[in-house]
Amino acid sequence: MTRMCNMETFAVLLFVVGATANTFRNFVNGAGSLIGYAEEAPYNITKIHQNFEEREYPALNWVCTTTKASSEVGSHDRAMFLKLFRYVTGQNSERRVMAYVIPATLEYTNGKNGINTYVLCLFIEKAHQAHPPEPIDESVFIENRPPLTIYTRTVGGYVISESQWIDEGARLSGYLQHEGISFSLNHMYWVSYDFTFKFWNRRNEVWFAKEAEK
Ligand SMILES: *[C@@H]1O[C@H](CO)[C@@H](O)[C@H](O)[C@H]1NC(C)=O
Repeated sequence: MTRMCNMETFAVLLFVVGATANTFRNFVNGAGSLIGYAEEAPYNITKIHQNFEEREYPALNWVCTTTKASSEVGSHDRAMFLKLFRYVTGQNSERRVMAYVIPATLEYTNGKNGINTYVLCLFIEKAHQAHPPEPIDESVFIENRPPLTIYTRTVGGYVISESQWIDEGARLSGYLQHEGISFSLNHMYWVSYDFTFKFWNRRNEVWFAKEAEK
């Protein structure tokens, strides 16, 4: 089963959610364009290693939704993404159309019983960080994440399927181990910056959270 963690094709989604031309225009203006993003979640690079880097993200509000599924079924992140997309495009208490901020992070936690937990989140744009509007969909929630320190490296190309993400996690984990830092592959973030229709200079990252697991 093909899973898409990379934000899918926005144009298609816009029609799926039944966005009006006005919503579309606001959204496009807000986001700059569908491919050139207006905003990226802020971070500092705190240490550069040979094959990976350490970054700090400040405490931020994210909009999230979660699901549980086996690896065979996958995260249904297309459906999850659609929920977050609706929130960003106006399905919120203030009917606000917000800018789409990259990246989208899919937190993967491997369950012992074969059932994984997936939490898909988008950063909320700076203008609404302090007071994000309430989601209308009950399965969508705002999460105030504490500061997050992560290890990551950026890879290009298409990283889409669950097995591709886990392979990249294993490679990054190998580099970390080389420096005496060890992580379990049972918990990581799969992070996408691009839409499927962007073909060059694609950016994908697996994140291991420094504090959460040691
Ligand atoms: C980056 O580090 C500087 C200096 O510590 C700090 O003032 C700033 O808020 C940090 N930026 C982010 C995005 O964490």
